[in-house]
Amino acid sequence: MFKSTTETIPETGAVPRHIAIIMDGNGRWARERLLPRVAGHHRGREAVRETVKHCVERGVEYLTLFAFSSENWRRPPEEVSVLQQLFRAALEQEVSKLNEVGIRLRVIGDLEPFGEVVMGLVGKAEALTAGNSRLTLTIAANYGGRWDLMQAVNRMVAEPRAKHGAFTEGDLARHLALNFAPEPDLFIRTGGEQRISNFLIWQLAYTELYFTPTLWPDFDARALDAAIASYQGRERRFGRTSEQVSTARKVAKSRAEPRRHRV
Ligand code: IPE
Ligand code: IPE
Ligand code: MG
Repeated sequence: MFKSTTETIPETGAVPRHIAIIMDGNGRWARERLLPRVAGHHRGREAVRETVKHCVERGVEYLTLFAFSSENWRRPPEEVSVLQQLFRAALEQEVSKLNEVGIRLRVIGDLEPFGEVVMGLVGKAEALTAGNSRLTLTIAANYGGRWDLMQAVNRMVAEPRAKHGAFTEGDLARHLALNFAPEPDLFIRTGGEQRISNFLIWQLAYTELYFTPTLWPDFDARALDAAIASYQGRERRFGRTSEQVSTARKVAKSRAEPRRHRV
């Protein structure tokens, strides 16, 4: 079980261990080029490939990508159908490559409406890559933060319990769809909007937020490095004062250094 940012103060490093991204702006990218919106989604797939590759190179351990929200069903049916086809094609064509480079694939969200074929492909992909440890790539598909909280609450209260009393944060966190990952260190949203759009509403409690006007199909290694550089300039206080943070850092550093003068 990973440490909760509200119950303990997690150790943080220079490279974010977990990056979560809202890949937004595909439609506008296409519109700027007088192309149909779906052309933007196709190009967005290339940006996913590049981002995954660069995260592996930078040593990021978890990458979570918002591909389709529980509210995206409200879009025109033709666009919804293209997005579903793209998801299915990615599952059919990319999984063996991901497996070859040691990536573990997970999918979170309510997959039922996608049908049995997609559910089967997801199950197979997750099983095939389960033993990989280079990077955990999570795709959020038909995912909504509120859906996640509700399914977690429902499963939590239905579970047989040894002791009675109030549920804890840990009880709930264990039932969330992303229970296999630490809370994100860095959240990125491309496309210029500054909102969460019902993404990981529980887990983003202490995540550093980064918004960029870059449209998702234009997001590349340089853009990712810019987001990581911004993250590195932040002071993560988790409720403490700045002075407490620097004292804690000095103590951790002196513990890590080998003792030179032993008596
Ligand atoms: C993000 O790009 C992709 C999905 C939501 C699936 P959009 O399609 O939302 O692009 P914009 O925001 O309309 O430009
Ligand atoms: C959020 O983008 C969902 C995904 C990127 C999958 P939207 O484009 O759907 O968000 P809103 O509607 O602008 O908030
Ligand atoms: Mg959008």
